[in-house]
Amino acid sequence: MNYHIPVLLNETLEILAPKNTERALDCTFGGGGHTRALLNSSECYVCGIDRDPEAKFRADSLKIQYGDRFDFLLGRFSQLSKLLKNSDKFDMIMFDFGISSFQIDTSERGFSFSKEAPLDMRMSKEGISAYDIVNFFSERDLANIIWTYGDERNARKIAAEVVEKRKISKVETTTQLSDIVKKVLGYSSIRKGHSKLDAATKTFQAIRIFVNDELKEINDALEYIPQILNNNARIATISFHALEDRIVKSWAKSKKNCFFQINKRVIKPNKNEIHENPRSRSAILRGFVYTEDNRERC
Ligand SMILES: C[S@@+](CC[C@H](N)C(=O)[O-])C[C@H]1O[C@@H](n2cnc3c(N)ncnc32)[C@H](O)[C@@H]1O
Repeated sequence: MNYHIPVLLNETLEILAPKNTERALDCTFGGGGHTRALLNSSECYVCGIDRDPEAKFRADSLKIQYGDRFDFLLGRFSQLSKLLKNSDKFDMIMFDFGISSFQIDTSERGFSFSKEAPLDMRMSKEGISAYDIVNFFSERDLANIIWTYGDERNARKIAAEVVEKRKISKVETTTQLSDIVKKVLGYSSIRKGHSKLDAATKTFQAIRIFVNDELKEINDALEYIPQILNNNARIATISFHALEDRIVKSWAKSKKNCFFQINKRVIKPNKNEIHENPRSRSAILRGFVYTEDNRERC
């Protein structure tokens, strides 16, 4: 697949409810799926942000199509105060956490356990890579990462096996790492509901989260957004695992005086969406409205 299907698109638009002349910030531009839908659903303005330099090429074609109604900023959403101008305020903000299909399906990015490639996993294409962690971190640190960010019960055994292997030669590729995990767990995949879960899923997720400091990114961005919101701004967050969703939930709880949940229950993809786009299966959408009445308590 070298395209990305936007997840929970109609449901997200319902939460964001764009109106002509309003301003939206899409903090996870990716392939521009949500941005494009916003731009098509009203005469609003959208600023897209992504840390992946490859997203810029996709943004260029939206710029040609939508002109002044669209801008793109390359950077991390934890850096909003540096990326945006002081006067920038928004009526809608969206986050669609995690990685895009472009990133997973481009094998040389090293995100996928099913495609032979150098261990990398860096969304921004800079900083420490999965290779550095797997080959140079201590056994204990490696086990902690796999346990904390992957909830992998066999984290210690996996770390021990990695350390054994790298005594002989470096673990260079995605499939080498995946084979180590499979050997330790003793299976290649298990059934989870209607789908199959690859044995290496949790370990890869853990290393990816660590490489990109994903949880701190989310925390920092959510803490900052009250400063760039207009009154009655809407916020949509799409999480893909419990660690992300937990941060959103606890942020919302701590800010309950100025952010009100739009839907009582979280929104999940229906069977049709999961059938058409299996990658949507774990998505959890939450929507909030900001009121500046209690801004000082936010
Ligand atoms: C799930 S994809 C978004 C897909 C997009 N909504 C679409 O429909 O095309 C997530 C995107 O967010 C980007 N991203 C993840 N963490 C980020 C961060 N901390 N700062 C900026 N971009 C980030 C990734 O590089 C990826 O392109």
